[in-house]
Amino acid sequence: MKEFFETVDFIKSKVKDIPKIAIVLGSGLGSLAEEIENKTIISYKDIPNFPISTVAGHKGELIFGSLNNVPVIAMNGRFHYYEGYDLKMTTYPIRIFKLLGVETLILTNAAGGINLNFEKGDLMIIEDQLSFFAESVLRGPNLDEFGERFIDMSNVYDKAYIELLKPIMEKITGKCLTGVYAYMKGPTYETPAEIRALRTLGADAVGMSTVPEAVVARHSGLKTIGITCITNMAAGVKNEVLTHEDVKETAKKCENNFKQVIKELVTTINQL
Ligand code: HPA
Repeated sequence: MKEFFETVDFIKSKVKDIPKIAIVLGSGLGSLAEEIENKTIISYKDIPNFPISTVAGHKGELIFGSLNNVPVIAMNGRFHYYEGYDLKMTTYPIRIFKLLGVETLILTNAAGGINLNFEKGDLMIIEDQLSFFAESVLRGPNLDEFGERFIDMSNVYDKAYIELLKPIMEKITGKCLTGVYAYMKGPTYETPAEIRALRTLGADAVGMSTVPEAVVARHSGLKTIGITCITNMAAGVKNEVLTHEDVKETAKKCENNFKQVIKELVTTINQL
């Protein structure tokens, strides 16, 4: 735990009032950071024991400030297993949020659409997740300071918050899509056969992040919300070659709706 407290002490020495809401910004969705006012920005490389993100489109900054007058922390750039970190390191910031006193975690990501009713550019509320093909981030000695060994997973994405988010989504995007996010380790996109298999298993979208963070958040008792930007239809759905450039470009197109949704959501949560 020593390294956790070192990190927390450093952050507390830079930021006086720690917000109760943290937002993890997914690939191409980082421009929400520009809307944050009265910012204190801390670069990951300056934070003791913090990992550093290596992916294009992920900036590597922790931003403290206010969004629509609501205090928030935004993580501009997250960590993925495919970068080479072990899973514990990919979720290190989530445990730091918990120790800082954060109560609500908003996880966002870019993902491929598996549900054939989805379209590129849609936003989806994550209702549940699948992670059959990856080891659990909680494998190994349990960190009792955060939570118990065996945890219930029937409310990973907080049901009450999902209900709050639905009318916001409907109002801003004209649609209210919900679904199951399937986690794949990457860094390859999936094969068409994998996508057909995931569809059979009940997945609506697929991506390479979020699930480890959501599991750790659940373990430590954070309330979690997940929002996915469908940046492409998954492999084999359309006759398209998938590229990270296209993913980032579509995420950019979703950005206006995405920012509006997050702003209204934090305002609503703040009023509870
Ligand atoms: N698969 C996995 N991860 C992704 C995708 C995808 O199709 N699109 C964006 N992230």
